[in-house]
Amino acid sequence: MSSNVQNRRVLSGMRPTGQLHLGNYHGALKNWVELQYQYECYFFIADWHALTTGYEDTSRLEEYVWTMAIDWLAAGINPGVSTLFIQSKVPEHAELHLLLSMITPLGWLERVPSYKDQQAQLAERDLGTYGFLGYPLLQSADILLYRPQYVPVGEDQVAHVEITREIARRFNHIYGRETEFELKVEKAIKSLGSRNSALYRTLRKEFQEKGDSEALSKARALLDSNARLTVADRDRLQGYLEGTGISVLPEPEVLLTATPKVPGLDGRKMSKSYGNTIGLREDTDSIVKKLKTMQTDPARVRRTDPGDPEKCPVWDLHKVYSSDQTRDWVQSGCRSAGIGCLECKTPLIEKVVEEVAAISKRAQEYEDNPDVVRGIIAQGCERAREAARDTLDVVRHAMAMDYR
Ligand code: TRP
Ligand code: SF4
Repeated sequence: MSSNVQNRRVLSGMRPTGQLHLGNYHGALKNWVELQYQYECYFFIADWHALTTGYEDTSRLEEYVWTMAIDWLAAGINPGVSTLFIQSKVPEHAELHLLLSMITPLGWLERVPSYKDQQAQLAERDLGTYGFLGYPLLQSADILLYRPQYVPVGEDQVAHVEITREIARRFNHIYGRETEFELKVEKAIKSLGSRNSALYRTLRKEFQEKGDSEALSKARALLDSNARLTVADRDRLQGYLEGTGISVLPEPEVLLTATPKVPGLDGRKMSKSYGNTIGLREDTDSIVKKLKTMQTDPARVRRTDPGDPEKCPVWDLHKVYSSDQTRDWVQSGCRSAGIGCLECKTPLIEKVVEEVAAISKRAQEYEDNPDVVRGIIAQGCERAREAARDTLDVVRHAMAMDYR
């Protein structure tokens, strides 16, 4: 078993905190739906993460877990191609978390920006816990356990993927040695063929001596494209290239996708904590009411006042939902006071209602058949466990702890 076999894997997760909203849908889920047809995707419900800030009240956690599973399925996550699972049903997350905790300097965790920020933001809760400090490390374990190439997340999670990379690097540095590594490396270089071996050596030197990152990517590409190389040898050459020894836990990359900003009803970012959301399964009447009273350009007090779409959150919604034609109509109508705000919102209301109705309908089918959902998740947990066990075998071996 080697570490780079699954190099087209994607992993991501969400905390189950209740019904998802349109911000979650356009900001993340829709992207996952596309990714699942390009990569081998693992998506998990991070129920242990929910405890890091919400340990005091766990009474609704189970409900939220199933709500999230259904939201995902209704949004188009296809269990035939993606693996959907619940974190706490794959206890290997906890084992890797523990092993990684042994090599993680406290300062790394204290320096993660969300640590102090969230403590300040959620000042009413006691977040001086061990679990809360370890949150980014648990996330690192979540990720490294599947050895994915990419982790699709929003801006707010980039620092967590960054620390994941640092931890992987540290793990590989400490445990990524093997007996006669240099000898095996030499043999592997020879197997590249004379032209490519020379090129590999040159690029490695460029990178190691001058930190030339272009040389690094060129060398990586050279290894990736070489069909003659065994998987184990590719790992060795990658490790030798980067000076880490064997890369037991490959460093994942953030996959930042340009997702539209979804404004909440008050114009701030749509977020559960602001109470400005439209739910993924909200009923039509409620959506219509919310959108009708949604914040517009504050300077447009009377119907006859011209407005500026750039200062209006409704415009941001048009960017998500409307055709070019409708947008042109909004731009000119707003600036010339040719249309009223309610008129402007009408096509939008139609689109949002239609989208939410379709999702709600699919969700209802799953609500009516809870056994189907449980079956999908049970199967996903099994599949995830297999992948997780493979990684732990490699990890235990690297740590010389694979004794029985
Ligand atoms: N911390 C993420 C959030 O709050 C959820 C999460 C936990 C996650 N583990 C992960 C995301 C691993 C990506 C990969 O949104
Ligand atoms: Fe906003 Fe539309 Fe009103 Fe202009 S017309 S202020 S874009 S809602």
